[in-house]
Amino acid sequence: MRYLVLSDIHGNYQALEAVLRHSRRKKFQHVLFLGDAVGYGASPNHVLDWLRSLGPRVTSVRGNHDRVCAGLDTADYFNRYARQAVFWTQERLNRKNLAFLRKMPVGPIRIEPGLLICHGSPLDEDAYLFSAGEAREVFEAVDEQVVLFGHTHVPSLFVTRRIDGRRVLSGRILAGARTVLDLDPDQEYLINPGSAGQPRDRDPRAAYAIYDHEKRRFYHYRVPYQVREARRRIRQAGLPPVLGDRLLYGA
Ligand SMILES: [Fe+2]
Repeated sequence: MRYLVLSDIHGNYQALEAVLRHSRRKKFQHVLFLGDAVGYGASPNHVLDWLRSLGPRVTSVRGNHDRVCAGLDTADYFNRYARQAVFWTQERLNRKNLAFLRKMPVGPIRIEPGLLICHGSPLDEDAYLFSAGEAREVFEAVDEQVVLFGHTHVPSLFVTRRIDGRRVLSGRILAGARTVLDLDPDQEYLINPGSAGQPRDRDPRAAYAIYDHEKRRFYHYRVPYQVREARRRIRQAGLPPVLGDRLLYGA
């Protein structure tokens, strides 16, 4: 199966539209969404309308912002701006979208043999996988060859292989407009496609991926979008202006 892989849209419909336009001819059969549909951006209902419209053509896991905006958890541990965005979002979600958000499945979800999706980590939806040490813990605990994760908003890759019973691990950031990875059947992978709606790797372009699980081929893309328009809408909506400004820098 060939998948469109998206994470951390965060209510940024301008970024989502650009990704959908760019991926239109990529011939994927199913969408994998790795969580955080809402929070921060000015268009939470538009993003959730799109996810709902996919019906059985999408498999989603919820993110921490989805959980909090759905009212399933408090925003106490969020910073001031994230918290303001939660309250703003909660006031605007329509009934259908709120019900949908409340029912978003908790990851991890096994998509097919050898393929798992989650938000932060398969062990904890709130955990950030930044370091090799954090990745090692997941590789030790999870058997699937490929785990797709989000949450850090940084497109990245961890790879491991066993040599003489010892696990050798490496990692890198996925930078640039297009990266193609041919996965080795003897290695295991943790891959983050990056954030569509609020990148934090100093590249403001929307990030997404196409993954062909049969061919074990992962295509990573960065797509320019109307960042200034997304920022304008955030300001106009009365959300904290810093949430718009950071989009300009991908930070
Ligand atoms: Fe996020």
